[in-house]
Amino acid sequence: MSEIFSVPRGTADILPAEIGLWNKVNCQARSVLNAYNYKEIRTPIFEETGLFARSMGQTSDVVQKQMLNLASQAKDEQGQIQLSGLSLRPEGTAAVVRSYIENRLDKKESLTKLFYVGPMFRGERPQKGRLRQFHQIGVEAIGPQSGSPYLDAEVISLSINILKSLGLSQPKLKINTLGSAEDKDNFAKILKERIQPSVIELCPDCQNRFERNVFRILDCKNEACKAVVRKVQIDRSYLSEASLKYYETVKNLLTDLGVVYEESLNLVRGLDYYTHTVFEISDSSLGSQDALGAGGRYNTLVSQLGGPEVEAVGFALGMERIMLALAQLPGVALIEEDRVDFYFVAFDEKTFKIAFDLMALARSQGFVCDMDFRSGSMKAQMRQADKAKARFVMIIGEDEVNKQAVSVKNMDEHSQFELAFEAVKNLRGTEFFSGK
Ligand code: HAM
Repeated sequence: MSEIFSVPRGTADILPAEIGLWNKVNCQARSVLNAYNYKEIRTPIFEETGLFARSMGQTSDVVQKQMLNLASQAKDEQGQIQLSGLSLRPEGTAAVVRSYIENRLDKKESLTKLFYVGPMFRGERPQKGRLRQFHQIGVEAIGPQSGSPYLDAEVISLSINILKSLGLSQPKLKINTLGSAEDKDNFAKILKERIQPSVIELCPDCQNRFERNVFRILDCKNEACKAVVRKVQIDRSYLSEASLKYYETVKNLLTDLGVVYEESLNLVRGLDYYTHTVFEISDSSLGSQDALGAGGRYNTLVSQLGGPEVEAVGFALGMERIMLALAQLPGVALIEEDRVDFYFVAFDEKTFKIAFDLMALARSQGFVCDMDFRSGSMKAQMRQADKAKARFVMIIGEDEVNKQAVSVKNMDEHSQFELAFEAVKNLRGTEFFSGK
């Protein structure tokens, strides 16, 4: 018996019945991104592993536990293709920054506003809303002129507006600030001092994190760690006056834009590159994996990766999570029925060839057409036409050949009429189809 293959664990096929909604989400997001003047960038789906380790942080869960590395070697005529040292991208920011630096985009414009749509890969334990291959719509605004609180407000409101335009009217937005790089060091120091007395109560992972990256403790799901975090008093004492003022401005701008947010002192994000504003958007209908998207400012990453001293801010939305949230909405308005305009029905060699040629003519005019290639009974073919939600069925039998005219059934109005074969050459010119 031959082996039956399955889709790899943590990945999913997007079937034809679902693709319409994916395309709608894609198109809708692109039209909002266009209104904010963001331009698309496409980078490879794999990059050097070091790029991710250096940007997301050696101690981040993604780099420590979830990287999918390419380890094999292949041979071509020129010799060996070395794939080791490369990883499937777990996110888009690092690659976009790599490309920004490599292509000297800073020389082209003072503010580079980019977006990307595509698959990302993380070796996670799969569950509902958490996959090993998932898709993000992401945005990065990078440049010497990007260090403005107005841009934080623009980027945050853009993420919310994309979701709202899709019909997700109540996404919950949480924001926080980590302050400048120095403030963040200060924050880590204060956190360490305050957690120190309870270190032994932490899970083994967090005891390790305490030394290597204390922020990770704040979002640990372990109950003992949550209890320690609840006891620790977190305040904004780590922030400089300038950082506090920056954050206040971002909040005021969001309020003026009508963006509703909640502040969360515990929100630090799982990736190391963030400074200043960080944010997360969630939807309570999603269960445990409720983050629809997240982002923030990363003012030191570009220079850390060898690029110019420029600042940046961005976010990424998870497309699978958006789909799950949309599925909870009553009668998702985004699903447009896929309909066939003309379904051709024929019965034997001769009529099939005529129908096949007429179908090609109709398609060349931009109509969606199909037929049943088995030429079964009239009943069987009408069943297929129904399944295809055909607007019109074009029947070609012996009688029709004699009259040189198609019998057309209008499936919505349940009426029937004849149409000369000749007239199929210019369907929009006929009174029946002029509006189609
Ligand atoms: P992130 O929080 O790691 O941030 O991911 C952003 C979003 O991607 C999440 O909120 C979630 O919707 C989706 N996501 C992440 N992992 C999975 C998964 N395993 N399965 C399904 N969906 C997932 C970033 O990736 C940053 N690069 C965002 C950013 C851009 N920050 C600045 N610029």
